[in-house]
Amino acid sequence: MTSVSVNLKSPEDIEGMRVAGRLASELLDYLTPFVKPGVTTGEINDLAHAYMLDVQRTVPATLHYAPPGHSPYPASLCTSVNHVVCHGIPGDKKLKEGDIVNIDVTVIKDGYHGDTSRMFQIGRPSIQAKRLSEVTYEAMWRGIMTVRPGAHLGDIGATIQRFAESHGYSIVREFCGHGIGRQFHEEPQVLHYGRPGTGLKLQPGMIFTVEPMVNAGRPGIRCLADGWTIVTADHSLSAQWEHTVLVTDEGFEVLTVSAGAPPPPAIAA
Ligand code: MF3
Ligand code: CO
Ligand code: CO
Repeated sequence: MTSVSVNLKSPEDIEGMRVAGRLASELLDYLTPFVKPGVTTGEINDLAHAYMLDVQRTVPATLHYAPPGHSPYPASLCTSVNHVVCHGIPGDKKLKEGDIVNIDVTVIKDGYHGDTSRMFQIGRPSIQAKRLSEVTYEAMWRGIMTVRPGAHLGDIGATIQRFAESHGYSIVREFCGHGIGRQFHEEPQVLHYGRPGTGLKLQPGMIFTVEPMVNAGRPGIRCLADGWTIVTADHSLSAQWEHTVLVTDEGFEVLTVSAGAPPPPAIAA
C-alpha cells in the first residue's frame, strides 16, 4: 500500500483555484480565433504570453519550468501537433490544413495554478483525426464524471482506459494527471488507466487534473533530442484534453471553465 499525502484545499484555496482555472480556460478562448492555417506555433505562444502578462496579469507556469532531470521549458504554453503526444515546444512550424494540435496552458494567478488543454483542428480534419479528438474528449469527461467522495482514482483511470480502448485506441502510460494548487504538479498522480476500486480514495477538497493522452496506434512514446517533445513511437496521431477538477461534497466541479469551453459531450447511457 503506497501512502501519499494529498493536501485538501481550504475554502480560500478553492476560490483562488476557481479564478486561476477560469483564466486558463479564457486564455484558450482568446487563442481560438488565431489557430488557423498558416499561423506558427511560436506566434500562438507569443499571443498567449502577451495576453497573460498584459491582460490577465497571470504568470505562464511553463516558462522556465524545470522539474528534476529536465532543462528549463522554454515557452509559455505547449503546442503538440499530430503525432506529438505532449510538451511540444512552440516554434517556426506553420499549422496547415488537416493538422490537429493540442494547446496546453497553465496560468498562475495569486499563487494558484489553472491547467487546461484543448484540441484544435486546422481547416477540415480527416475523419480519423476528428474521431480521435472526439473519443479523447469523451474519455476525459467520462473519467471526470466518476469523481465523487468515496470513489477511487482507479475509477477515473479504468473508465478512461475502457472507453479509449473500446475504440481501438491506446492510452499513454508515462504521463498522468496531477494534484495542483499552489504547486504546478503535486500529489496525487492521476493515471489514465487502471482498475476500478483501486488507488487513493477521493475526498472533498482535493483538486487534480484529468488529462488523458490517447494514441491512434500503439501506446509507446519517444522523447525528442530537445528533451521535452514527446512523440508516438509509431508516428500515429495522438490527442489530449485536460481539465482541472475539484472534488465536492456532491461529486465534482470542473474549474477550468469559461464562455468558450466546449460543453460536456452528450453521453448515451
Ligand atoms: N501543462 C502540462 C500539464 O498538463 C505540463 C507542461 S510542463 C512543460 O501538466 F514544462 F512542458 F510545459
Ligand atoms: Co496538467
Ligand atoms: Co496542462
